[in-house]
Amino acid sequence: MFDRKPCVFLVGQTYQIIFNTLERGIAWVEVGGAQYPDEKGGLMRSETTVHRAVVPCAALDESREYTVCFRALPERRPYYPELGPEEREVYPFRPVDWSDGAQLMMIGDTHSCVEEGIATGRHFGDKLDLLVMNGDIPAESKTERDVLAVFDIAGGVTGGKRPVLFIRGNHDTRGKFAVEFLDFIGTDQGNTYFTFRTGSLWGIVLDCGEDKWDDSVEYGGIVRCAPFRRRQREFLRRVLAEKEKEFAAPGVRTRLAFCHVPFMTDLMGLDKKFDIEQELYAEWTALLNGMGIDLMLCAHHHQLATYPAGDAGLRYGAAFPVIVGTEPHFPSSPDFRPSLGTAVTIDEGGIHAVFADGRGRTLPAMELSRRK
Ligand SMILES: [Fe+2]
Ligand SMILES: [Fe+2]
Repeated sequence: MFDRKPCVFLVGQTYQIIFNTLERGIAWVEVGGAQYPDEKGGLMRSETTVHRAVVPCAALDESREYTVCFRALPERRPYYPELGPEEREVYPFRPVDWSDGAQLMMIGDTHSCVEEGIATGRHFGDKLDLLVMNGDIPAESKTERDVLAVFDIAGGVTGGKRPVLFIRGNHDTRGKFAVEFLDFIGTDQGNTYFTFRTGSLWGIVLDCGEDKWDDSVEYGGIVRCAPFRRRQREFLRRVLAEKEKEFAAPGVRTRLAFCHVPFMTDLMGLDKKFDIEQELYAEWTALLNGMGIDLMLCAHHHQLATYPAGDAGLRYGAAFPVIVGTEPHFPSSPDFRPSLGTAVTIDEGGIHAVFADGRGRTLPAMELSRRK
């Protein structure tokens, strides 16, 4: 039986449809008469309640509908295993609709406050084209229930009917389920850094991992983000080398970058222990400078800030504008007020960003006219 609503994660030029079930069994997705199985090495995965099917964007953009399919398998016997009856759920899907511009809503730092996340994420209502979840969605990944906050929020905002871009945050990396967390989100073969393309929009997602050095006592020796970040330097070099297939591909008109931690801005008042990887982040920034990024969207600081290109608050010579755009408020706090995210519209005029709480309050953020 199906549990929560599926999540349609955008990675590369695919949609990774991830859905959970209450029992273990085999699963697949059907789009336009074709089957996309949750399969590994030619075998249907069954010893899990979280399933992933990878569908080319072109197929789902055309059919605008997908069916999640499941058959329970109580015991994976080596011979004559017996599957339960086929269960199916159909979901309508709307790809990014450019007719009124593309509407992207970025939320983040919800730290398990599901209702707040949903309320902020609904800013655009039915006009939403892409939900951006910029990390720290659960408070930690201690249990499967924590991790499922991703589905509670994404399902509450999109109902499985719109694409979702997920950027991992430093709190998503903590707790017993932190490694399994990767099974619940869109990744490039397990990598939480990747590029994507939808219509004329190209984007790149980076992941700093933790926000302090690996030998911080807080991590107790179970973190190795240093090599992970260096693999992303190689990834950035590869994207630059293959620019004709990436940011310089025919038809690309807008280039966005995403990272939970705004590694290229000032520390916004944080302690020096968070000022890490200066040399490497300078390299990342220089590589991003070569990609003609129109805007970078970050989270993490729990406060709002805008950095126009050339702003004194930008480090490492960052040549692109940056928005730090999530200001969560938690219902448990005595001075609670609604959380803010960043609402972005991309149209012929350029990129228009405001901070929004999903309940009618907006604050100006950034206006960027289209480069000639
Ligand atoms: Fe956070
Ligand atoms: Fe964070």
